[in-house]
Amino acid sequence: MHFPSTRLRRPRQTQWLRNLVAEHTVTVNDLIWTGFVVEGVALREPIPSMPAVHRLSIDELVAEAQEVHALGIPAMAIFPALDNKLKNAKGSEATNPDNLICRAVSAVKKAVPDLGIICDVALDPFTDHAHDGLLVDGKILNDETVEILCQQALVQVRAGCDIIAPSDMMDGRVGSIRKALDDNGLQDKLILSYAAKYASGFYGPFRDALNNKGSLKGDKKTYQMDPANSEEALREVAMDIAEGADMVMVKPGLPYLDIVHRVKTTFNIPTFVYQVSGEYAMWKAAAQNGWIDSDRILMETMLSFKRAGADAILTYAAKDVAKLLGK
Ligand code: PBG
Repeated sequence: MHFPSTRLRRPRQTQWLRNLVAEHTVTVNDLIWTGFVVEGVALREPIPSMPAVHRLSIDELVAEAQEVHALGIPAMAIFPALDNKLKNAKGSEATNPDNLICRAVSAVKKAVPDLGIICDVALDPFTDHAHDGLLVDGKILNDETVEILCQQALVQVRAGCDIIAPSDMMDGRVGSIRKALDDNGLQDKLILSYAAKYASGFYGPFRDALNNKGSLKGDKKTYQMDPANSEEALREVAMDIAEGADMVMVKPGLPYLDIVHRVKTTFNIPTFVYQVSGEYAMWKAAAQNGWIDSDRILMETMLSFKRAGADAILTYAAKDVAKLLGK
């Protein structure tokens, strides 16, 4: 390749040429809408650190699900924002088959059966210490937590959840949940493992959304990954695949594109990326201040996920992206 026989500017001259040679595209099929459900009726509670994202009561969530489906988005991930009165040290509400998330899932499934539903498996929406596992004498117990997570997965799947997404980062949970599902005749339910999940500052607004602000005792560094590591991410992913994960996730998104790329190129398995609450908040805050071109940066970010190798993107801005794609 030498100038002047090669001129890389030649195919950049017009939009139709640029479209022809584009290597990556974002489509509505790449999107997973993420959002929060709260107890009540006709409620849309604003989340201060996540402008334009709300905690929705179940009826509002159903309406949202209908809109998400009408936009062509294949799936949604729902997180329960519990009243703090319902939280306790063991997170016992997590395994109640009639809890908020189970009722939300069954209402959405009934109203919009063709929309995929993804549920987290982790105890943090349910514990008063806001950790993802059982906390005893300042330590997170691994194997005891995994037993509860299996029960949590079962109640959520029985409510209508299609894809179980363990976000707790306990060792061995994917294999145990796979076995629990299989033993109960639920072998067709999928597991999307939060395989490479980092102990990240970018989850701050999410904890506000779950009413967990200020309740987290210590940090999550004994189970979530050190941002300094990438080889370890590949080991996490390899183990989750061996234990039966159908898809794996990297989280957060934009600061971890190198991990997305390595996971996809190493394993060639469906690889999802989560544009987390702090990423959303940064984008939204700058946009609201008029400091950035909001639409352009949103689409450029989505494209960067695709370029890195992501097959799907969990994002609070999924409806915005779908609407921009429809233009
Ligand atoms: C719970 C969970 C978290 C997120 C998704 N599931 C928070 C955490 O691990 O502390 C974060 C999502 C976001 O920030 O948008 N285990």
